Amino acid sequence: MKLPITMIVNGETWPLDVEPNEVLLDVIRNRVGAKGAKIGCERGDCGTCTVLFDGRSIRSCLMLAVEADGHEIITVEGIPENGVLSNLQDLFISHNSFQCGFCAPGIVLGAHELLRDNPNPSRHDVQHALAGNLCRCTGYEPILDAVMAAAEEARS
Ligand code: FES
Ligand code: FES
Repeated sequence: MKLPITMIVNGETWPLDVEPNEVLLDVIRNRVGAKGAKIGCERGDCGTCTVLFDGRSIRSCLMLAVEADGHEIITVEGIPENGVLSNLQDLFISHNSFQCGFCAPGIVLGAHELLRDNPNPSRHDVQHALAGNLCRCTGYEPILDAVMAAAEEARS
């Protein structure tokens, strides 16, 4: 039996009927169409399915869609404002922070959350904040460089 839920995704209200066992990641991708949240390990290890849930990063592969009833979700598609990439996103590009880009949505959201809550992070703070977001391509240094540059630019 399907259950009615309503969630807000990237500022848009979505009334949906979901199965009790439907995973939030699948609903976000297949029903809402926000494909920025990626399917990786599907067991909470890789972070590529990260979304902001009421402002906090969560692994959407580990949450049931029914748990999102009444809550607000931001995917990577919701980070640009009026179609313009954030400064953080621009710096990820200019630092060549990603190669295949599969990890990028989760890392963008994790870094966005960090800089919102801590405008003056140490490099260790960034490492700690993104520790659950695995990247198999870059060795992480260009990712850390971009986040530190974004923090510095925001303070200047
Ligand atoms: S797909 Fe969710 S943590 Fe890997
Ligand atoms: S850029 Fe390929 S996994 Fe991070």
